[in-house]
Order: sequence, then structure tokens, then C-alpha cells
Amino acid sequence: MQSFNFKMPTEIIFGRHAEDQVAEKLREYGASRVFIVYGGGSVVKSGLLSRIECQLTSNGLAFQVLGGVQPNPRVALVREGIREALAFKANFILAVGGGSVIDSAKAIAHGTANPGIDVWDFWSGRAKLEKTMMFGSVLTIAAAGSETSDSSVLTNEDTMRKVGLSSPLNRPALAFMNPELTFTVPKKQLVCGIADILMHTLERYFTCDKEENAFTDRVAESLIKTVMETSKTAVENQEDYDAMSEIMWCGSVSHSDLTGLGRHKDFSVHKLGHELSARFDATHGASLSALWGSWAKYIYKDNPARFAKFAQRIFGITDGTDEERAELGIEMMVTYFKNLGVPTSLPELLGAHLSDSELYSLASLATAKDTKRLGTFHPLTRKDAFAIYKLANKE
Ligand code: NZQ
Ligand code: ZN
Repeated sequence: MQSFNFKMPTEIIFGRHAEDQVAEKLREYGASRVFIVYGGGSVVKSGLLSRIECQLTSNGLAFQVLGGVQPNPRVALVREGIREALAFKANFILAVGGGSVIDSAKAIAHGTANPGIDVWDFWSGRAKLEKTMMFGSVLTIAAAGSETSDSSVLTNEDTMRKVGLSSPLNRPALAFMNPELTFTVPKKQLVCGIADILMHTLERYFTCDKEENAFTDRVAESLIKTVMETSKTAVENQEDYDAMSEIMWCGSVSHSDLTGLGRHKDFSVHKLGHELSARFDATHGASLSALWGSWAKYIYKDNPARFAKFAQRIFGITDGTDEERAELGIEMMVTYFKNLGVPTSLPELLGAHLSDSELYSLASLATAKDTKRLGTFHPLTRKDAFAIYKLANKE
């Protein structure tokens, strides 16, 4: 096992009526002026936002609200949020929504705490994030894991770049998680969310590290199996509280780092997927399922034993050579994605094949014109990224 630092400071309030504790908890954390961020309106329609507003008012907490965060959240709205939060003198940023809203809230917290710096500079690497403001979330969809993760992903609409920022300061103080709030998530978002949850563990599981990492492997395998077993029930009956609870909790654990501690992470499929979201506004989870099979087929020969272990532990495949088991395991994972109802190729994701020059341009952007390698399993060059996109374009 490799050395690691792990600090997951987020207090999680999980279960029915979790959101009823928002005001009480925020006061406990010293909040008095709360800047609320939400998305395209689902929390207005469900009445969640007004319930939270009433709670804050009756507990003597001042608040101001900013809506309009869109999936693949844009930095322009974040900048507007920073201006408003500064003018309001906010001391707590509360996201009410999914990963896009939480990522925007994280960015608003960072920008408000650092008013002299353009917030995008933290994402582009021009500035180093050294302080932030307290923030938390009321989660309404199980997917990105931003409610516990150390990451925040933004799109800069001027440059068409979608970039993640990793920092311990991205870990929220609080997450309110009531699985009932996810009952209204549109089916497409539900299945894309499930794909994303699985991908956060798959991107950590496939490694070329030589060291054994038995406990972390078992945590990862347990999460993958739980999500795969429960997703059928969740998709068939989205109001199944127990199934949605499992999915929601797995979503938070999957991207908290627990499923990959002590080994190198890969995350190259995420980087390739972000290019598709930046260019085509593709839904995040779908961009990943569309590429994973092609990535796996392209790189598995670097360590077929690792893929064979996955095939055995997840799908019970014991017969054949490492390579045969690896290939069957990849096929079975792709079949799982197909049955879940998420795309497993670029034409399924985008509704059309892409030209070679489009694929090359995506590969070039992902690898910063071949100056950056993606991932650790098989650090991808531009040529590799192009080959993977091309493979996904055929299926
Ligand atoms: O905007 P509203 O109206 O709220 O509707 C949203 C949105 O249209 C809807 N929705 C969410 N909860 C709902 C609901 N509709 C009805 N009822 C509810 N209870 O779902 C749609 C998608 O929302 P979004 O927040 O975009 O979903 P998700 O949680 O999948 O977040 C995706 C974003 O997170 C980033 C992705 O790249 C993408 O930009 N990620 C963030 C990560 C992180 N910070 O750690 C890691 C991930 O790998 C990912 O990159
Ligand atoms: Zn993801």
C-alpha cells in the first residue's frame, strides 16, 4: 500500500427530513448570512427551496438566493455569484441541488474569500487556492459526489474548457442528504448519475501499482457490486427509499477517495469525457460510459491480471487466461452500462459519428497539444487519446 493523506471533514446528515436541520446546523457552524445557490428550477418546483428559506427566516438567519446554474456549470454565473455574495456579506454558501450547483457554490465560496483574484485563475492554475469560505449542500441527486469530494469542475464558456480543481479546500463542511429528494430526478439524469458513481470507483480501481491493497480493493468492489445490484430496483422504482439510499450513500463514498486510498488514481476517462462535455454539452455520466469500454480495451494489456481480478470479483468469471477473463469482464461491464440505459459509444452519446479531424482536435485539447499525459494506468499521449476516441466512434 502506498502512503496517503486522507481528511474527509464533511459532516453528513443523512435520512428522511435531513434538510429540516439546515437552519439549526448552519447556526451551529456560525453562519448568519447565507448565500443560497440553486439550478434550473427543480428545487423551486418541488418546494424544497421555499422550505429552506422559511426555516432560515424563522431561525433568524439572513439569506440571499442565486438560481440558474446549468449542468456543466459556467464560470460567468459563478462570477456573478461572487459579486452578489460579496455585496450581501455572506458568511456561508449553501448549494441546494446536484453536482453542478455544488461545484458552483464551491467556486463562489473561493471567489468570495479571495476577491482580488479572478476565480478562473484557480482552475487554470494561474493562482493557488489558499483560503475559502464555509460552504455546504442540500443534495438532490446521487451522482457527482461533490458533496464530499475535494474537487470542483467548471466550464469556461469563453475558452470552451471544462476543468477540475482538486484541493482540500473543496471539501464541504456539511452535506444534508435525504434520499427522498432524489425521487423526482429525471430518469436520464438518474442513470447518468449511477454511471458516474461507478466511474469514480472504476477510475481508482484500475492501476498498474505492484503493491497489494486488499482492503481498499474490497471497499471498491463492495461499492461497485452494491450500486450494480441496487440500480435495477432504483431505475424500476425511483421511489424505493432503500434503493435510493444505497445509491446516494455510494455516490458520496465513491468520490470521497475511500475507494482508492493507497494507490494511484487514473481518471483519464474523466479527462477525455470533459472534452465531450465542453464541446457538445454532453451529460457528464454519459460522456464517461460512452468511453469507458474503449479505454479499457485499449489499455488492459498493460496489466491484464488487474482486469482479470475485476472480472472475477465483480462478475464471478473464473475460467480462462488473464486476458480472456479481462476481455469478458470488460464486455460484461459494457453490457451493464447498456442495460442501465446509458450510451456506450460516441454515436449513441452524440447522435452522430465524429470526423477524424474532430476526434484529433478533442485528443489535442485533452492532452494540451500532446504536452500532458492523461492518467496513470497507461499515461495517454495524444495518439492514445485519439485512438480511444476513434474506437468509441466506431461502436
Ligand atoms: O438544475 P435543476 O433544475 O435543479 O435540474 C437538475 C439538472 O437539470 C436535475 N436535478 C437534480 N436534482 C433533481 C433534478 N431534477 C428533479 N429533481 C431533482 N431532485 O438534474 C440535472 C443535472 O444536475 P447536475 O447538478 O448537473 O447533476 P450532477 O450531480 O450529475 O452534476 C454534474 C456536474 O458535476 C461535475 C460534472 O462534470 C458535471 O459538471 N462533477 C463534479 C465532481 C466533483 N465536484 O467532485 C466530480 C464528477 O466527476 C463530475 O465531474
Ligand atoms: Zn464523474
